[in-house]
Amino acid sequence: MGFEISTEAYGQFMGRFSGPLAQEFIAFVGIEEGQTALDVGCGAGALTVPLIERLGVASVAALDPSSAFVSSLRTSHPDWSVLRGSAEAIPFADEQFDRTLAQLVVHFMSDPVMGLREMARVTRPRGIVAASVWDHAGEAGPLAAFWRAARDLDPAVRDESGLPGVRQGHLESLFRAAGMPALRSTVLRVSIQCATFDDWWRPFTLGAGPAGEYVASLAPEDRERLRLHCFAAMPQAPFSVDAAAWTVSCTKELSTR
Ligand SMILES: C[S@@+](CC[C@H](N)C(=O)[O-])C[C@H]1O[C@@H](n2cnc3c(N)ncnc32)[C@H](O)[C@@H]1O
Repeated sequence: MGFEISTEAYGQFMGRFSGPLAQEFIAFVGIEEGQTALDVGCGAGALTVPLIERLGVASVAALDPSSAFVSSLRTSHPDWSVLRGSAEAIPFADEQFDRTLAQLVVHFMSDPVMGLREMARVTRPRGIVAASVWDHAGEAGPLAAFWRAARDLDPAVRDESGLPGVRQGHLESLFRAAGMPALRSTVLRVSIQCATFDDWWRPFTLGAGPAGEYVASLAPEDRERLRLHCFAAMPQAPFSVDAAAWTVSCTKELSTR
């Protein structure tokens, strides 16, 4: 699904949004020195980095199914604990972490309820399970303008609006289905600046995520058609892109079965 790419390419495509989001996510969840954390679906490490800055490298573990991301992180950060694996089968014993977090991951899980259940399992009593997912079903996701342009040219295009957790209220429903009914939820917002149209467009050509895979699947003339359609639709540069993420947390002791 466009995650077997370099961490650099992923960083240019999504890291520009997920880096700032990680700061907001941590502030919402609350993290204190002395705690341990697991970053589920760590990608290129947008959330792992600020977790390590706050808790220390020995107190943070990261997990991702992408062999490209895992091997790249192990090479660039040999002191990090990075495991290859999925949320649906987390390779840790019960009640290991004070914070088990998944930033921009639940919508990619093959079984989100099982993934959230697993996240709760490895979390200590009084610990927090939390997840954040872009509002891809509304018009507030970071890729909304791209998918709108793609749909204009091909109404049958499979965008990200139907993925689990991306529509209002659905992330809460998934937490409840996973046995976590007592929730805190919010919408986190970030904004990035694009100095030129190409700054915005070029990361879509790197094969990252479903949008990058879609661009890569197009014939060169269709890709150019999409680029020109996006150019006509985007504001004149420089412009900003705003993005909103549904975000839910649950304190294990209060509600998990
Ligand atoms: C949009 S990226 C988010 C990466 C990172 N958390 C961030 O905020 O930048 C989604 C990540 O989820 C990972 N992923 C996909 N399916 C997963 C699953 N079932 N369990 C855990 N991670 C998964 C992908 O490999 C990818 O690294």
